[in-house]
Amino acid sequence: MIPATTKSILITGAASGIGLATARHFHQHGWRVGLLDVNETALAGLARDLDGAWFHPLDVTDAEACARAVSAFSGDGALDALFNCAGILRMGRFEAISAEQHKRIIDINVTGLVNMSLAALPALRRADAPVVINMSSASALYGVPHLASYSASKFAVRGLTEALNIEWKRLGIRVVDVMPPFVKTPMVEEADYQAPVVSRLGVKLKAEDIAAKVWEAAAREVPVHNPVGGVFKMIKLLDKLLPSASTRLTMTFLSRE
Ligand code: NAI
Repeated sequence: MIPATTKSILITGAASGIGLATARHFHQHGWRVGLLDVNETALAGLARDLDGAWFHPLDVTDAEACARAVSAFSGDGALDALFNCAGILRMGRFEAISAEQHKRIIDINVTGLVNMSLAALPALRRADAPVVINMSSASALYGVPHLASYSASKFAVRGLTEALNIEWKRLGIRVVDVMPPFVKTPMVEEADYQAPVVSRLGVKLKAEDIAAKVWEAAAREVPVHNPVGGVFKMIKLLDKLLPSASTRLTMTFLSRE
């Protein structure tokens, strides 16, 4: 029997990397976690690890399936937090990535987030202090060569977050995003092409670092954008202080082939 005071979070992309680390973090802190992912086998393994946590296979591009998943998890009850984490990355020269792959990036990273946010809204509205946390990225600061569509998808996440942060205030729902540079997860480590910017910036963050940031965003008022990692915080600060041409120069330097 789950105590009535137990808080609940739905996490997309929960089977791997940042979603998985976040699921563990919230579970350890006594939250009821709902695990969603296309990878059902990995999801079932994680659910077993987390004392039989609730899980459901889901492709976030399927709007009706998103609605079914939310109502299976929350029923007529409240959902305290939604973590929109599912995402994919393809790195390579723009023309080396097929039109279909470019579209898939936008479908999952953007439309998937829209689908889940719409699906979760009724249950979020029933919570006392609901929050939506979106996975944006450092690549939403300035377009990143070799990650063009991915970077564009994270600009879209940034825009959606900013708009809903204002729009859903009237509903009492906080909407924020997290913006890390590269994180050690299968997304980056198992990529078949490593963009020059990956080795120049390095992959210094762990999934647990991002989980801790998501935890903070769920627990207290945080700004609309939440950068993670010292180097990116510095680049973001310089982007504010210096003329915009300097960020372009930095990106040109970091991305040279
Ligand atoms: P990951 O590849 O380890 O995990 C992503 C998860 O999303 C996988 O379990 C995958 O099965 C799931 N997924 C993919 N397509 C899906 C779909 N259609 N429906 C449901 N689930 C789906 O990647 P990672 O690194 O944990 O990424 C998580 C999020 O963090 C993504 O949105 C990513 O863009 C973002 N991010 C990652 C960074 C990194 O360097 N790893 C940096 C900044 C942001």
